Amino acid sequence: MIGLRLGIFTETAMDGSLRFQTGSCLSLAILCCALTASAYCRPLSSYDGQVDKLLQQMTLEEKIGQMTQAELDHIRDLNDIWRFQLGSVLCGGDSDPKAGNGLEAWTQAYEDCQAQTLKTRLQIPLLFGVDAVHGHNNVLGAVIFPHHIGLGCTRDPGLVELIYRVTAQEIRATGINWSFSPCVTVPQDIRWGRTYEGFSEDPALVELLGQAAIRGLQGQDLGGPLSVLACAKHYLADGGTKAVVTIGRDGRQVARLDQGDAQMDEATLRRIHLRPYIGAVKAGVGSIMPSYSSWNGIKCSGHRYLLTDILKKELGFEGFLISDYNAINQIDPDYKAAIAKSINAGMDMAMVPNQYRQFFTLLRQLVLEGQVPMERIDDAVRRILRVKFAMGLMDKDRSLMADRTLWQSFGGQAHRQLARQAVRQSVVLLKNDGHCLPISKRARIHVAGRGADNLGMQCGGWTITWQGRPGNLVPGGTSILCAIRNTVDRSARVTYSADGSGAEGAQVGVVVVGEQPYAEGLGDNADLSLDQQDIETVKNVKAAGIPVVVVLLSGRPLIINEILEMADAFLAAWLPGTEGQGVADVLFGDYNPTGKLSFTWPASMDQVQGRSGKPLFEYGFGLTY
Ligand code: GLC
Repeated sequence: MIGLRLGIFTETAMDGSLRFQTGSCLSLAILCCALTASAYCRPLSSYDGQVDKLLQQMTLEEKIGQMTQAELDHIRDLNDIWRFQLGSVLCGGDSDPKAGNGLEAWTQAYEDCQAQTLKTRLQIPLLFGVDAVHGHNNVLGAVIFPHHIGLGCTRDPGLVELIYRVTAQEIRATGINWSFSPCVTVPQDIRWGRTYEGFSEDPALVELLGQAAIRGLQGQDLGGPLSVLACAKHYLADGGTKAVVTIGRDGRQVARLDQGDAQMDEATLRRIHLRPYIGAVKAGVGSIMPSYSSWNGIKCSGHRYLLTDILKKELGFEGFLISDYNAINQIDPDYKAAIAKSINAGMDMAMVPNQYRQFFTLLRQLVLEGQVPMERIDDAVRRILRVKFAMGLMDKDRSLMADRTLWQSFGGQAHRQLARQAVRQSVVLLKNDGHCLPISKRARIHVAGRGADNLGMQCGGWTITWQGRPGNLVPGGTSILCAIRNTVDRSARVTYSADGSGAEGAQVGVVVVGEQPYAEGLGDNADLSLDQQDIETVKNVKAAGIPVVVVLLSGRPLIINEILEMADAFLAAWLPGTEGQGVADVLFGDYNPTGKLSFTWPASMDQVQGRSGKPLFEYGFGLTY
């Protein structure tokens, strides 16, 4: 049993279930599975007897269909699912059911797609994939957990496994059976817009927490009713690309890292970036997503040595490779040549959201012309079918309907309590002069900053929409301002201003500042200085002559020297998600901070750009009360 350092669990009952302070209890089945340390026990190749029997019956078109993944809102009409024998459908960050973004609409969309497979000769069910990277984050009302950078600061694999177990439950509530997570990137340059999708700069910590996430999603048995196929991504060295810095039209530096080129020798590649995949394969991950990026100038999505020789032969990966979104297009300007290079390099399924018809036709031509050998097609389809058999999708008595009883717990208090605990454990206390923290619950408090009442900033990217959005568009969440108001005694007084004005008369100021939401390359940033507006807000509260507590909401360490100097206390809260109450728990001492930095915190942009020097805070730093 994994040691769980979770303040909210008052006991582990005799039956192994864990009880929350609220007295509610996650279902025993989930928790017992979640807390079982063993990896997925049955090797995927053990299904080859059943798989090969099916493979022998399949036509070339049925095989190519299994290798083709289309995006729901690009499928002209759902009949294309059976017309092209599609093996999979995805909903990317901005792809939602036409009927809306709630639980019912998502569930109906899933069931409508699965129903189409019954019109095919072999009736092979779909894998339906979404990016559940911090909860079932596309769906209104889902619990949004802290992004990986915050979870890395918990150093708690038991917590991460439980988070992904609960996430799997909320995914299955919509019927969906595949998540393109966990991201097991090892970010080396925090100017990268996907830094927050990484647990840490340290490969060993990423491997540990990545394995926990895979166990959480896939459970002990990939065919379990609450299990979801995991996808370790993005293979390989997506977080190790070299920044390309140019000068923009406004004269400011522009840094491009996302989908760039990782320029390093093989020893470095293996030491830093391969290690989490060794762990993921050991944990029995069923799918892996090659990266858009390149290694020494060659696109990973077409890199035979990486995809086949290392991952499949050397590491013995028995699942399948799913390309990133239109990543195959980047391999060669001639799409047909690009397809040939990628499939022959070892890609097994193609994420071709709006080009699925073209992909299907061209790959069929390539096979008939002998440019892609049938053995390669059979290997790809075998890998996909292994996973479908392991998931129980091929069982004659399997249901293609969602289990709507799971709606009862979707977004419910038990799940929110877990997310609150994750927030508590992810917050890192960087400064606390004069024991400014914890704050008395009877104090007069002035809250300020554009992040104080802003669930969008709390959640960051990959929340309801791909890029996320500032404001309070995430139903069911608790902003930090609301959490403070929930926590103080009736005798206390809490005032608020976005710009920090009006703090006079308060006994302490709490200023919540940080980054606006972003995802992927749109988050690449050459200058990580704090926004001037945030600095002014801190100054305004400081001018009131009261102690100042700064709470930073960010997807990475920022250059904070100026406001750190002004602050009496400073908390790094990262991107905590919907449960802002966890931040208040730390502010008022209901939880003694335990978070430790999972990234080195630079003192200047020079250091971010690689120049040596003493960092502002070392990797692993974190104070407590
Ligand atoms: C995106 C991301 C990848 C995601 C995929 C599907 O571009 O690179 O992480 O899983 O497309 O949304």
